[in-house]
Amino acid sequence: MRKNIVIGNWKMKINHQSAQKLIDDMIAGMPSVDADIAVCPPYLYIPEVGQRLADSNIALGAQNVATHSEGAYTGEIAAVMLNDFNCKYAIVGHSERRANYADTDETVGLRFKQALDANIIPVLAIGELLEDREQGNTFDVVAKQLNAVLDFVGIESFKNAVIAYEPVWAIGTGLTASAEQAQEVHLYIRQLLAEKDAQIAENIQIIYGGSVKPQNAEALFAMSDIDGALVGGDSLSADSFLKIYSSFQK
Ligand code: 13P
Repeated sequence: MRKNIVIGNWKMKINHQSAQKLIDDMIAGMPSVDADIAVCPPYLYIPEVGQRLADSNIALGAQNVATHSEGAYTGEIAAVMLNDFNCKYAIVGHSERRANYADTDETVGLRFKQALDANIIPVLAIGELLEDREQGNTFDVVAKQLNAVLDFVGIESFKNAVIAYEPVWAIGTGLTASAEQAQEVHLYIRQLLAEKDAQIAENIQIIYGGSVKPQNAEALFAMSDIDGALVGGDSLSADSFLKIYSSFQK
């Protein structure tokens, strides 16, 4: 039986002081929930946030990882460096990186593999643009993004991975996919994986991202193929993020 998980993606929306306070507030208010929880701070804060999280059940993740393990790649952070700070997860292929930093299906595959090779769980973000959805291309776009990585790393690599379905039109917009809209795509993703390996498809956590809030988390988590959330804006408030985490209980 797969476990649920919520992951906070802090993006570049936090400073040093507020990161410290957010972690302290989360630890102080942590409810007892049988699900996984993780936060992805900006790289610079990873060492300190990791120290503060050391005795907690909150895992640490990164928002990205380099396509190579070492070398002349100015400004990049390798997976093995994240290893030094006990990063358990790394988001790869976030739509903001695809849109603003030229991430492609190919580079996302390289990042995915780098994370895995360093024993870091890649959180593969995929999702369609508004125009894709309006033109009825949602499934095609999601399949293309997923298959590009699958073809590169192979289905076995998805034993230790998380998939985040993040419709781009729902990110930071306040628009959320309805629970039914999200479930439909999550089921499709699971079926695509099941064509290659039914057991891996059954076990993998497929989480939803895009304006997840305490008000909509419960309905999303009630869906059979939605195993949690990748949360942006509402992960910056301990109260909201922990309410989302607590929505698994209901
Ligand atoms: P919001 O929750 O702010 O819409 O962001 C979602 C996201 O991009 C998480 O990676």
